[in-house]
Amino acid sequence: MLINLNDKNILVTGGAGDGLGPGICEAVNDAGGRVIVNDLNLEAAQEAASKYKGGLAVAGDVSIAEDVARMFEEIKNQCGNIQGVVNNAGIGLGKYAIEAEEAEFSHLYDVDVKGIWLVTRAFVRQLLDNNEAGSIINISSVQSFNTMHRMAIYASAKSAVNGLTRGLAVELGQYNIRCNAVAPGYIYSKQSLSIIGKWAPDPEKWIEDHKTDHQCLDFFTSARDCGNVVAFLLSDLSRSITGQTIYVDNGTTNLLYNNRYTQ
Ligand SMILES: NC(=O)c1ccc[n+]([C@@H]2O[C@H](COP(=O)([O-])OP(=O)(O)OC[C@H]3O[C@@H](n4cnc5c(N)ncnc54)[C@H](O)[C@@H]3O)[C@@H](O)[C@H]2O)c1
Repeated sequence: MLINLNDKNILVTGGAGDGLGPGICEAVNDAGGRVIVNDLNLEAAQEAASKYKGGLAVAGDVSIAEDVARMFEEIKNQCGNIQGVVNNAGIGLGKYAIEAEEAEFSHLYDVDVKGIWLVTRAFVRQLLDNNEAGSIINISSVQSFNTMHRMAIYASAKSAVNGLTRGLAVELGQYNIRCNAVAPGYIYSKQSLSIIGKWAPDPEKWIEDHKTDHQCLDFFTSARDCGNVVAFLLSDLSRSITGQTIYVDNGTTNLLYNNRYTQ
């Protein structure tokens, strides 16, 4: 039994990053799906899309309604309707809530929450126009479950993503449209490394200690590990799963105390 995304066009927002994006796109591609890579920068999206069979690139800011409408028009003209969306585009902050500026708060919520709503709204309207089923996967975070210093604003946005996921599942089930979230633990990306660098003088050491202390499984979660779960949730194998947030975190969210404290 294999995950089969044959004949499905899948939009991956923020797909040109160097963290989760490639792992998600690869998994969709390997399952037979056609990958449509969105990102802010067209050249970066084109370079990423060129790695996948029939890959298509669309540039646009997910937090701007006009960009999202144009992207969906471009996709429709170039490869027809889409059957799945992975809302992966997202930014972090790494600042104490009381130190953050209003513009930083708004920007984070615009991309991490409003962006998901705008892309999902455009996708669902297209599905309803064509009387089609579909699957939406939102990339959340372990920070939506428990959080840490300097993450309150990001954690609250990712908690909103989980809430949006549940609510969309409730509202869209009647149309056979599913909505789930994947909540990764630490995954390498330049973005995550630079945020960790805001408090850790040696981010690589901090990440190594995180693996030893704050995961049940003693290896790093890869972007592809998350991509495999995303591909499953996009496929008909998961047809009875909706409204769920699945933690892909090597057990981070199970731990009450760090390993060295209790072993
Ligand atoms: N790396 C981790 O440890 C980790 C853990 C949990 C959750 N996440 C989440 O995974 C997702 C991907 O993050 P990543 O770590 O792979 O970082 P990344 O920076 O490699 O990928 C994010 C991509 O989104 C794009 N992007 C940013 N704003 C955008 C916008 N407004 N419109 C379109 N594209 C935009 C960026 O250009 C980038 O290519 C994010 O939602 C992040 O919150 C990451």
